[in-house]
Amino acid sequence: MNLKQMVGIEAASYVKDDMIVGLGTGSTAYYFIEELGRRVQEEELHIQGVPTSFASRKQAKALGIPVKTIDEVSYVDLVVDGADEISADFQGIKGGGAALLFEKIVASYAKQVIWIVDQSKLVTKLGRFPLPVEVVPYGEKQLFQLFEEKGYRPSFRLTADGELLVTDCQHHIIDLHLDVIEQPHALDEELNQLVGVVEHGLFLEMVQTVIIGQEDGVKTIV
Ligand code: 5RP
Repeated sequence: MNLKQMVGIEAASYVKDDMIVGLGTGSTAYYFIEELGRRVQEEELHIQGVPTSFASRKQAKALGIPVKTIDEVSYVDLVVDGADEISADFQGIKGGGAALLFEKIVASYAKQVIWIVDQSKLVTKLGRFPLPVEVVPYGEKQLFQLFEEKGYRPSFRLTADGELLVTDCQHHIIDLHLDVIEQPHALDEELNQLVGVVEHGLFLEMVQTVIIGQEDGVKTIV
């Protein structure tokens, strides 16, 4: 069993009958959803899933997990999601899978947020992983230029075929190659104020539990 699978299965043990569960996106959340699907089928677990991407929605539906959108539920008990980086003070970068907008919305309304990662995602300070910024296409070149002027080393996210990546909400992503983010809260505020920025991948003060897959087993930090 690989580390991502280990943490996915561990996180699924937090899910109890009748919960409304946010379903994260990515190669680690994939294993969480698979295990939830197994429990729904084999243990008759009754839950409702709130997927954070079309991909997770498709996976959940194929496994027989009933799915709702965030607007069809009145609350979310917990969300389990992956992360691209987690700093020593529990702040995160997400959006490597381009699902940051739905992920942040679902996490914002969840009573509990759990991140599942392998040990490679733990860093002292954020920023080595390029910070995704989701933008509306209209005016995106102006934003790109602004980021260049600020020294943020932007690049448009492309697909494997070299096309501009389009998110589930028909936006584009500009990745900022910052190397290190000394003041995440200040950057969060700065990006939030830019017109045309829909959301960005800094997830600050959002997580309560991190489940880490290590060579010697699973470690949970609360
Ligand atoms: C998607 C995400 C993912 O959770 C993040 O990229 C981690 O993915 P993986 O588990 O595949 O490493 O934020 O937008």
